[in-house]
Amino acid sequence: MSSELRFDGRVAIVTGAGHGLGRAHALLLASRGAAVVVNDLGGDIHGGGGSETAAQKVVDEIKAAGGEAVANFNSVEDGEAIVQTALDTYKRVDILVNNAGILRDVSFHKMTDEDWEKIFAVHVLGTYKVTHAAWPLLREQQFGRVVMTSSASGIYGNFGQANYSAAKMGVVGLASTLAHEGHNKNIHVNTIAPVAGSRLTETVMPPEMVEALKPEYVSPLVAWLCHDDCEETGGLFEVGAGWFGKLRWERTKGATIPLHHGVSIEEVKSNWDRIVDFSDATHPANSQESMGPAIENLQTAKQAPAGNENIDPDKLIGQEFPAEDLHYTERDLSLYALGIGAARDATDPKELQFVYELSGDGFKAFPTYAVIFPFTTLMHVVDMEGINFNPMMLLHGEQFLEVPKPLSTEATVTTTGKITHVYDKGKGAVLVIESISKDEKGEVVAKNESKIFIRGLGNFGGDRGLSVPINIPPDRDADAIEEEPTDDNQALLYRLSGDRNPLHADPAMAAVGGFEKPILHGLCGFGIAARAVLKHFADNDPARFKSIKVRFAKHVFPGETIVTEMWKESDDRVLFRCKVKERDEYVITNAAMELQGLGAVLEGNGSAKASSVNPEVLAIFDEMGKRIEAKPELIDKVGAIYQFDVTGEDGGTWWVDLKNGPGGVHEGAAEKPNCTIAMAAGDFISLMTGKLDGQQAFMQGKLKVSGDMMLATKLGMLQG
Ligand code: NAI
Repeated sequence: MSSELRFDGRVAIVTGAGHGLGRAHALLLASRGAAVVVNDLGGDIHGGGGSETAAQKVVDEIKAAGGEAVANFNSVEDGEAIVQTALDTYKRVDILVNNAGILRDVSFHKMTDEDWEKIFAVHVLGTYKVTHAAWPLLREQQFGRVVMTSSASGIYGNFGQANYSAAKMGVVGLASTLAHEGHNKNIHVNTIAPVAGSRLTETVMPPEMVEALKPEYVSPLVAWLCHDDCEETGGLFEVGAGWFGKLRWERTKGATIPLHHGVSIEEVKSNWDRIVDFSDATHPANSQESMGPAIENLQTAKQAPAGNENIDPDKLIGQEFPAEDLHYTERDLSLYALGIGAARDATDPKELQFVYELSGDGFKAFPTYAVIFPFTTLMHVVDMEGINFNPMMLLHGEQFLEVPKPLSTEATVTTTGKITHVYDKGKGAVLVIESISKDEKGEVVAKNESKIFIRGLGNFGGDRGLSVPINIPPDRDADAIEEEPTDDNQALLYRLSGDRNPLHADPAMAAVGGFEKPILHGLCGFGIAARAVLKHFADNDPARFKSIKVRFAKHVFPGETIVTEMWKESDDRVLFRCKVKERDEYVITNAAMELQGLGAVLEGNGSAKASSVNPEVLAIFDEMGKRIEAKPELIDKVGAIYQFDVTGEDGGTWWVDLKNGPGGVHEGAAEKPNCTIAMAAGDFISLMTGKLDGQQAFMQGKLKVSGDMMLATKLGMLQG
């Protein structure tokens, strides 16, 4: 057979080849052309006695079949003598199968030193001795194939085999290092953990099993690992009865404890769930990869040698703000609208409706007034446990606001909030604060999410956080541009709506914050931009407002002109950004407003479902599509079709093809998904941006899986 794998010209040493597995290895290698040194001491299974018959019988068998072999009767502890037999007879050694073995099973408390030492002498010392004697020859000729014999008892443990288990793992360690040392010299070193019927197993297995588990079923793997064509090295294989499998180390993603305060037992305890959670497991293949996370933590600690005792994320995350009531009337709404520049043209009825209670069209609340609801709540951030900072160092990073139905013109709203995340951005810390405001009937009237950036509170060795770039304007001219001047006293007017931070009023305080003069409130510019979008794309109808999300990129000084550039993405969604005309600098970026569909507003019963999808969810699927495109190997790694049911008004259904090349992300339901994941939009965003742990989400019922549950554990590959 032309494809037959041959060993012609190769010289193999097989230790302990007088019986069992060693005999089968020797017979197979010889039958394929190798000249074999059949080593066997010929002792009993406990290492006692000795005779030449065992090895000689196998040599005779090989020769009778037309093969080439020579016997050696030394103990593997005399490795040099075995290698010398090979040199004397065949002048070389190419292949070494370390197989000789004995047992001295006894429970640990009864084990004697002799039991321990004899086992180590044969398995560890013997393997070392023969390999060490052959090694220079293999190096010199730049070819070598070495197989070690370990055992499931070593890998998994087995009652009564403490000595044997320890020795069998000893040879795994030896092989791991020799695989590295031999690599450049074309010496490959692998290990098998076999199962076979033999003298060693006949004491523990029924006779029919000993008979059925033929050593011949193991030898083909050994022979392949010894072949010129086999590139495998450093591998550990379980093998028996025709089954072959490779083992590797699997490690949990683990938990990293920042080093700024040292590491305490309590921190280990509180991180235990993550330390032992295999859901995002990794498979380090070498010691460099193994040390990766530890080195990363050291580097983080080095960047922040003293840590930052002014912030303790563990105390902050989850902390709730006391509930606060806010009563507002038309007067408050008017003052707010003036603060964001409404009715600059006091003759425009569409503007007057926000500031004049007797306006012909009826007085209406400007929807972004709802960002004021959590304001008094947020003021408490300076009093929170686990944080200590100067309010002058606080900047608004991002704001999301959703107003599910038009705001009443007078109401008492109750706002509750909590810190959901704390990120270490180096120069500062980002606190994510979610708040919910309800009216007197307990109905939700606003949801806010604020990200605040506190300069100087970074480098505490915490989570850096992921940022998915969203709401990127398209590469074309804006569909609408609105220029709006602000007044020199704009901040003084805006602050009357609630945000009395002196940074916006007092020049001395502004200087403490590093500004040449008081700056405009980020949320004032946000309101001005919201007015521009509503004017151009919703005919100034506040009922069409649904939600808004912005990132504050830079400060604005009162008196500067804000230019809002807008792109209509659909009837329900407008992307925008703002710059300061005088300095040509973008101050608001990554921004979008979602509008209620026209149909929904016309029906006007408040129960109409908005058709727009959460922009962050869209961005995540977009990002996923790009990731699949950039990493086609994901198709091989995963080989499945996922369906995502993102629930809620702003959700939708997508399917992700990681089965059929080139893969991709599609809207709608899959025909035959292998795994379906159902989650609310907010939870889905948290999961995919790494803020929510998949396992925990599952346990808390936030993540529902149907189909192949195991596939859910591979979702990490789709994360940014
Ligand atoms: P076996 O007892 O049939 O063969 C072992 C051979 O090694 C015997 O011929 C014996 O005379 C020889 N030997 C013992 N001490 C020696 C020494 N100091 N120098 C030279 N030769 C020596 O046993 P089996 O099952 O074929 O075992 C082969 C190897 O496989 C051993 O290392 C054993 O620990 C390992 N193993 C076997 C398993 C099985 O299911 N049979 C399971 C896991 C590991």
